[in-house]
Amino acid sequence: MGGKKITIQDIKQAKKDHRKLTMVTAYDYPFGLMADEAGVDIVLVGDSLGMVVMGLDGTVAVTMEHMIHHIKAVVRGCKNPLVVGDMPFMSYNTSVREAIINAGRLMKEGGCDVIKLEGGVDFAPIVEAIVKAGIPVQGHIGLTPQTASALGGFKMQGKDTQAAKRIVDDARALEDAGVFSMILEAVPAPLGQIVAEAVKVPVIGIGAGSQVDGQVLVTHDMIGLFDKFVPRFVKQYTKIRPT
Ligand code: KIV
Repeated sequence: MGGKKITIQDIKQAKKDHRKLTMVTAYDYPFGLMADEAGVDIVLVGDSLGMVVMGLDGTVAVTMEHMIHHIKAVVRGCKNPLVVGDMPFMSYNTSVREAIINAGRLMKEGGCDVIKLEGGVDFAPIVEAIVKAGIPVQGHIGLTPQTASALGGFKMQGKDTQAAKRIVDDARALEDAGVFSMILEAVPAPLGQIVAEAVKVPVIGIGAGSQVDGQVLVTHDMIGLFDKFVPRFVKQYTKIRPT
């Protein structure tokens, strides 16, 4: 396949050009390769692999070793897309030093291009330190699955004015901390638009309406390969598992 390697500059430029970004998850070589061949901009090796690949109830038990193992496989299939490695729960939450070391491990041992972590205002200092260490960071706000139990479950976020304002503050804090883009998960569509307009970096939505700068979906949801549930906002293109 031809094409050119997508860079973080390309991702930022897409927003300026009003070009919507495409992003999907992959956890192994063949899915990385298919995303590459389909011309997807960004491939996320998400810690959702705990649920859709390992059969766990959530993402909390996913380790650095799991992530590095899967990132390595995806990277082998992805020539052009920007590959994002997801920081697992508690790999960046205890100290700035540990966060930088673990972010570096995902890139050095896994081979991903950039990392992603969950959290807004409270995690901005950690994001800033990782970016200063030379590692590009994608943020993740709104519904943050690693702390879903603290948020009362896998629920829509930002439904009242105060909660919506907090999410806009999170987005601004991440932008100030130096993220090159951010994921916005499970918020009402009008809030998705407000957040996308509040920052200059691309806001990539998942269940955040259509007025954001791109969409990300968990591939296993999109193709009907995950047996437990299908989030309401997911467009299913096929159902691989017979029901
Ligand atoms: O882990 C993941 O797949 C994610 C997406 C839901 C954005 O974080």
